[in-house]
Amino acid sequence: MQKLIINGGKRLCGEIRVQGAKNSALPLLAGCLLTDGRTVLKRCPELTDVFAACRILNELGCKCSFRQGTATTDADSAAGFRITEELMREMRSSIVFLGAVLGRHGRCELSYPGGCELGPRPIDMHLSALRQLGVKIHEEHGRISCTCPRGLKGASISLPFPSVGATENIMLAAVCADGDTVIHNAAREPEITDLANFLVRCGADIKGAGCSTVRISGVKKLRGCEYDVMPDRIAAATYMAAAASTGGELGLTDISCDDLQAVTSVFEEMGAAVYSAGSRIFISCKAPLKAVRIIRTMPYPGFPTDAQAVVMAALTTARGSSMMVENIFESRFRHVDELVRMGADIKVSDRTAVIQGVKKLCGANVRAHDLRGGAALTIAALGAEGTSSVGCVGYIDRGYELIENVLSSVGADIRREF
Ligand code: EPZ
Repeated sequence: MQKLIINGGKRLCGEIRVQGAKNSALPLLAGCLLTDGRTVLKRCPELTDVFAACRILNELGCKCSFRQGTATTDADSAAGFRITEELMREMRSSIVFLGAVLGRHGRCELSYPGGCELGPRPIDMHLSALRQLGVKIHEEHGRISCTCPRGLKGASISLPFPSVGATENIMLAAVCADGDTVIHNAAREPEITDLANFLVRCGADIKGAGCSTVRISGVKKLRGCEYDVMPDRIAAATYMAAAASTGGELGLTDISCDDLQAVTSVFEEMGAAVYSAGSRIFISCKAPLKAVRIIRTMPYPGFPTDAQAVVMAALTTARGSSMMVENIFESRFRHVDELVRMGADIKVSDRTAVIQGVKKLCGANVRAHDLRGGAALTIAALGAEGTSSVGCVGYIDRGYELIENVLSSVGADIRREF
């Protein structure tokens, strides 16, 4: 089991070029299936989840190669419509291939997706929306078989909750459907806008992405294109938390400050000085951190659930008592017990965590239980006194490109032990 060994207490200082967004790269790779010819995705992060998406493309017969942050696909020979259970289980995002495969072949066979354990993660909204687009779904022994006897037909779909994955699946299935599709109560996350921008570059007709109502007029074909994956706003939030936890000063480049507003305002409330302009942000945390009254995770533009754990890690040593309410996932506090091992004072009741700031954390042996929780333990260990080991690094590798190299480039004492 790989571990990160961290000698805490070093102030981080310097500049980090933030990676491309995992949560955008994955649906974009699924979207590549719909294009004729070659598609080139630049700034595609080198992550285990991205490699898993490439394996799914390969299984479907789509060529996919990866070199120095650029994924190149060629879907001309993608005749496959079945995804094996083993690949489906590798990550939650495997489910967005459903919309793309249906868009391409009008049929698809796959299993329920895997992914980080954050509580129940049903796909009922995905399936119900696809039914409204004319898909017949048959489930047996954990396999889901989908066919479109009359082809995919545009529809007006109202989501009961602005699910990111369901919005992406509808978009992928609808871009080449017959007629117009309207998604009401669509997710507004920047990754949705990025997927729409990519599909439009390929020839799709999509309006309103980033708003609650998205309109898609089906087109006959999509062609390959070159596209830059958007910056990873959660990786940016994680490095801001690292600066906060170590009393450091970091400049983050190649990001979109607009996408980070809910997060930057929390760091400002904690007493950090944050300066942002265009694609750069500078955070300085020289003064002791202050507690924040309450943070509620919400769909975008609210505070992102994916930043809850890393911000909590920084709050463990803030002066006073902070409260965090997790509204998106049922079980997203698995990092709490591990933070407590490091000396944090956190009480959880149902979906609320109360964090009473302590003077300092102490190094300990802890282990990641999910991606963002693992990042949070790393952040806590960077600010703690003494040495920590963070186990189950595989979770962290799903979402952060060589986190130890990035952090050591700005002064952290961190190494990977195999
Ligand atoms: C995406 O997951 C992200 N993953 C998650 O990031 C992120 O936490 C989440 O959106 C919320 O922002 C990717 O983009 C790959 P949802 P997704 O559908 O699409 C319920 C990370 O750390 N729901 O918006 O799976 C669901 O259970 C990850 O990078 C249903 O009930 O999220 C959850 O409570 C983890 N039925 C809520 O909606 C459905 O059919 C939000 O889920 C679908 C969702």
